[in-house]
Amino acid sequence: MVNVPDAGGVPAAGGTFGDGRPGWLGGLGQVRNVVRQELIARQLGRHLPAAPARVLDVGAGQGTQSIRLARAGHLVLAVEPDPDMRDAFADALRAEPAEVRRRVTLRAGSVGSLGAATGGARYDVVLLLGVLMYLQASEPVVAELAAHVAPGGFLALAARTTTSALWRPAARQDWRAALAAFAEHDRALAEGRDMRYRNEIGAPARADDFGGLTAAAAAHGLLLERWYGVRIAVDPAELDPPPPADPAELAALLDVEERLGATDPYRQLGQLTHLILRSRSG
Ligand SMILES: C[S@@+](CC[C@H](N)C(=O)[O-])C[C@H]1O[C@@H](n2cnc3c(N)ncnc32)[C@H](O)[C@@H]1O
Repeated sequence: MVNVPDAGGVPAAGGTFGDGRPGWLGGLGQVRNVVRQELIARQLGRHLPAAPARVLDVGAGQGTQSIRLARAGHLVLAVEPDPDMRDAFADALRAEPAEVRRRVTLRAGSVGSLGAATGGARYDVVLLLGVLMYLQASEPVVAELAAHVAPGGFLALAARTTTSALWRPAARQDWRAALAAFAEHDRALAEGRDMRYRNEIGAPARADDFGGLTAAAAAHGLLLERWYGVRIAVDPAELDPPPPADPAELAALLDVEERLGATDPYRQLGQLTHLILRSRSG
């Protein structure tokens, strides 16, 4: 059953994604998103329990990962505050076979009031992929999500770290932007706040300190099991071209990114950092 209540008024709890929505939706078929979604799926695949697992996808957006997981037999509750994003999700879901559609429930809802969508249930897998950078602070979000992870389950968090926020302009040889990023980094440190930046899709965003994020997770009973970089070699291009048309070229690109994303020092430069945070069993 696909459940798409019309609750367009659900507040985004201070989320800053709205400015970036057109850029995000417009870039779904381009190489950056193709690599991002495939890499996140491969990395998640190393940790998922056997189907059917209970999955909560928070800020599910257009539903790429929710739908992939439902295709693999998992049962997904997808929560998304933005009505346009829910429409994109519902459109994608309509194209799926009935047995996949039946495994997905899509609800309006937001970080900050997740209980209204989940009823406080716990899940084997909780996803927060590419959402944290649009929220004001990480610790309360991690606390709320941790309360939704079943004993022995995990939270998968894809976030932007200060390392990548500093590295991207330098890698693109935009020296002034790189210096400005370092200045903002130092200012944030002196002021005891997180670093801010404007991201590729034009939205104001926030970078997390890796150590701070894992410490916040540990304080809420979630221990770092493994972490990966997402988009390392493919990111520096100024433009976001379509993926290679030659399937063998695309397959090679994805395999290289997978290796880089699982290996130091390369994974530290990933444009997203994907953390698998496991709850203690029982
Ligand atoms: C960059 S998209 C990522 C979508 C999807 N998770 C993915 O990885 O493909 C960011 C999503 O976060 C959602 N979002 C923004 N603020 C949120 C909040 N307070 N609670 C839940 N989701 C939020 C946006 O509406 C948007 O769909």
